[in-house]
Amino acid sequence: MHPLRSLILAAAGNETIQHAVATAPLARSVVQRFVAGVTTDAAVRAVRGLADDGLHASLDYLGEDTGDAAAAERIVQAYLNVLDRLHAEGLAGWAEVSVKLSAVGLRLDPVLALNNAYRICAAAEQCGTTVTIDMEDHTTTDATLSALAELRRTWPWVGAVLQSYLRRTENDVAALAVPGSRVRLCKGAYAEPPEVAFEGRHDVDLSYVRCANALLEGGGYPMFATHDPRLVSVVAERARWFGRKRGGYEFQMLYGIRPDEQRKLAEEGETVRVYVPYGEQWYGYLMRRLAERPANLAFFLRALVSR
Ligand code: FDA
Repeated sequence: MHPLRSLILAAAGNETIQHAVATAPLARSVVQRFVAGVTTDAAVRAVRGLADDGLHASLDYLGEDTGDAAAAERIVQAYLNVLDRLHAEGLAGWAEVSVKLSAVGLRLDPVLALNNAYRICAAAEQCGTTVTIDMEDHTTTDATLSALAELRRTWPWVGAVLQSYLRRTENDVAALAVPGSRVRLCKGAYAEPPEVAFEGRHDVDLSYVRCANALLEGGGYPMFATHDPRLVSVVAERARWFGRKRGGYEFQMLYGIRPDEQRKLAEEGETVRVYVPYGEQWYGYLMRRLAERPANLAFFLRALVSR
């Protein structure tokens, strides 16, 4: 991994830096580019704005590595609340939710996390939408996939996420590329050791294409989460090659990243879903986005010093 990227990911756990970011006015404007806001209202407003442009959304109430059951419960309540609002405002057809198991208690107690995920899935079903379970670092992959399998016994539509940087992912794709299975494929955003993850970008991209082929060839509903223009065009071409009709798969991108491309793909008739993070705990998420792109970091550091 690039040393700069490791450094930024390490800063993701630093409270002094977080405080500096939270109090620098211009830095806040950078946060706003990637995070829809802190409240349910802000999240629903973002969904409505995207829907006006023909874009679907997946809402992520920010939080990870929740340390106590009360905090996990607050996160569950935030999801239940936003699902109600989506339903009440006629937006459930446009937006689903993405959930991190560590946010709802995975490291605390896997049974609690599963139970919390159940409650969110049950609410999503009642509101007429779906849930995708985000994938976190490799130490949680097995636990996340087994929780997913449990949830899918009741709700086969619960979405999985697989990361092409992990060496194991081709095998996981083979197991999940089955009818009715919704699978988001991304490159992966965490600092991982070489024993488990490809190090070079090229290897990660090749793995992405192999996994995309397997998903398109299989019977499930693939969700291609990438901003990489080359991968977007390879996937679109492979989708046609496998005879997938538009709507038989989707592209996904993050809020604030390549918004013009998001609209362009939707105008061309592709289904596009934007991952919309919101909530108080935006810091770890923001640091991962900065680590992905040095240009973001330069922009951000300038904003941080102009207080
Ligand atoms: P890559 O990083 O190579 O970027 C390709 C191009 O996209 C760049 O050259 C630039 O033009 C643009 N770009 C990418 N990142 C940018 C940024 N931060 N700012 C500005 N431009 C940028 N990861 C994970 O581990 N678990 C998960 O559950 C998810 N979930 C998820 C959902 C969705 C909808 C998306 C889009 C992504 C994720 N990710 C994720 C994150 C993912 O693993 C990955 O870290 C990022 O998408 C960046 O990888 P790209 O495929 O975009 O390629």
